[in-house]
Amino acid sequence: MMKIIQTPDALKAALQNESGTVGFVPTMGALHSGHRTLIERSRRENDVVVVSIFVNPTQFLEGEDLGSYPRRKEADEKICELSKVDYLFYPEAASMYARDEAGITAPDVRGYILEGRSRPGHFDGVLTVVMKLLNIVNPTRAYFGKKDAQQLMLISEMVRSFFMDVEIVAMDTVREDDGLALSSRNVYLSSEERKEALKISFSLKRAGKLIMQNIKASDRIMAEIHAILEPLEVEYVAVVNRRFEPIEHVEIDNTIILVEAVVGKTRLLDNIWI
Ligand code: PAJ
Repeated sequence: MMKIIQTPDALKAALQNESGTVGFVPTMGALHSGHRTLIERSRRENDVVVVSIFVNPTQFLEGEDLGSYPRRKEADEKICELSKVDYLFYPEAASMYARDEAGITAPDVRGYILEGRSRPGHFDGVLTVVMKLLNIVNPTRAYFGKKDAQQLMLISEMVRSFFMDVEIVAMDTVREDDGLALSSRNVYLSSEERKEALKISFSLKRAGKLIMQNIKASDRIMAEIHAILEPLEVEYVAVVNRRFEPIEHVEIDNTIILVEAVVGKTRLLDNIWI
């Protein structure tokens, strides 16, 4: 039977009685098949599986969608139960944060480019909550999606910088049949907007094809992506290496091409790993 736990202390106490490896999947809920593949892999690889659902207020900027972010408690519980999760952690903000406390700051450069430039301070909030969650759960492995590539890189580097004993496992992006990357925020899209949103995954697929034809100049690839995204409002298109340093030429097995575009009022992220 899955146990639903609401406070950090209660989860720590419960996990003290468990033995074997612990797999952890942190989420903000409104679970979809992307989340599910992370949970299922964690189930295959570990004795105990913990999923957290916490819409973390500190990673939302003023004026963002904290209040309207989809909350689906019952459906999420069902999904976790069916995926044989052992512990579903569902904390309230008051049990996770105190007033005037220490926090993690994202790296000056790589925490404030791309997504961090569109949303300054966002990654401070992400890293702080992930640090808290990892300390509460103390997992053997924690699972993250490549869909949020910059987040994944910053978390992997934080774990290294702070000498934490957890293996970060990166999972491929799960997509709809037509290519749209699954996201909890896709529910904001009207059917018209959803069609427009397909330009994003299509532009990245096209970039992959250019590279297969040995066209590797970043400028050329980015221009092609911009042309396909037209007339969407593009926040950024970037070609970076795995450490998120911009590169002039695609390096096979060491490149990520990223896009963020706004469709209607919804910010959509996607990327491909070359
Ligand atoms: P959330 O957006 O709920 O995502 C939880 C995890 O699911 C992240 O690791 C994310 O990369 C992964 N994910 C999302 N969409 C995916 C897809 N289409 N395919 C594969 N994986 C996907 O990311 C967060 O929550 C938060 O920032 C969090 C890390 C929980 C900290 O609050």
